[in-house]
Amino acid sequence: MDKNINTAEILLSTVGSLENEFAFVLQYFSDFGIHFNEKLQSIDQRLNELTPDEYDDLGISQEQLLQNFEQFLQQKFSGQKEDNPIQSIRILGGHNKSGEAENADIYLSKGSITSIVGPTGSGKSRLLADIEWMAQNDTPTGRTILINDELPDISLRFSLEHKLVAQLSQNMNFVMDASVQEFLIMHAESRNVKNATSMVDKIILQANELAGESFTGETPLTSLSGGQSRALMIADTALLSTSPVVLIDEIENAGIDRKKALQLLVRNEKIILMATHDPILALMAEQRLVIKNGGIHKLLITSKAEKNNLKQLETLDAQIMELRQKLRSGEEINST
Ligand SMILES: Nc1ncnc2c1ncn2[C@@H]1O[C@H](COP(=O)(O)OP(=O)(O)OP(=O)(O)O)[C@@H](O)[C@H]1O
Ligand SMILES: [Mg+2]
Repeated sequence: MDKNINTAEILLSTVGSLENEFAFVLQYFSDFGIHFNEKLQSIDQRLNELTPDEYDDLGISQEQLLQNFEQFLQQKFSGQKEDNPIQSIRILGGHNKSGEAENADIYLSKGSITSIVGPTGSGKSRLLADIEWMAQNDTPTGRTILINDELPDISLRFSLEHKLVAQLSQNMNFVMDASVQEFLIMHAESRNVKNATSMVDKIILQANELAGESFTGETPLTSLSGGQSRALMIADTALLSTSPVVLIDEIENAGIDRKKALQLLVRNEKIILMATHDPILALMAEQRLVIKNGGIHKLLITSKAEKNNLKQLETLDAQIMELRQKLRSGEEINST
């Protein structure tokens, strides 16, 4: 789509010429109650045809309507320009908990999956938080995060419109008074998803595949279990989020199908970081950062031997999963 197109040009285009690629323009006006019946008419002509009384009924003046439209277009096109603005993330070391320099310079490129391992309390979640916050030597670790090898514009921290980072945090609870469906519809609409209802159905279906006991669109968010909430957020992030960076803090503890969850999240060309205590997830990544005493201790590339071991681990894991399934459904585990 031509990104340099301007408002006047659109207003002077005929309805018929906008119908396909620019249907969102017509949608914008019909959301205000202005409908178009004549294909050869331009938007400008249609807007001028409406009487002051009709504008009164719509609850907006022509002037205000045009001002809002201008803003709407600006957001729409700037959003598209920044569709996937992040090619790389670079982590410049700060210091560990004892104040010793990290000496780290870690480069993560688009399409890479990096796991983060280390003992409890060592600083894995902190590293994810530094990236989410685009730390500029202003967090407890003193790290600096570069985006595309440059210091990022700090206003991005607060930009909801162009959220660069999708964070699946370790602890999450819904406090919103809404049903699953209401929440997802709202989210889909804020992302300009065309067919929100069918997208919402897909997300619920996916979430139920990850979690155990299933829930529906009518389930209130507040009555979801921990694992169900997490499954919902994972499916939501996988299907709706356009953020080029995905940060995952421990998918293993929620009792959901963690391998499936990871596969779901990893589909697109993104930069993925995942804090984990799980050897299978750790080895599924092509590299892993080892954290110790709050500092980046080393970066290991997953070797061929490790990838082979991963196959064995997965066989073992399948056995454990089977036992877990039995346990969950109340069977006895007398032999393994
Ligand atoms: N370099 C550092 N300097 C100072 N404080 C740090 C540093 N790194 C981490 N911390 C602090 O240490 C505490 C534990 O870190 P964090 O929560 O990241 O651990 P974790 O590895 O995620 O643990 P878990 O596996 O239990 O989730 C946090 O309060 C964090 O802010
Ligand atoms: Mg943590």
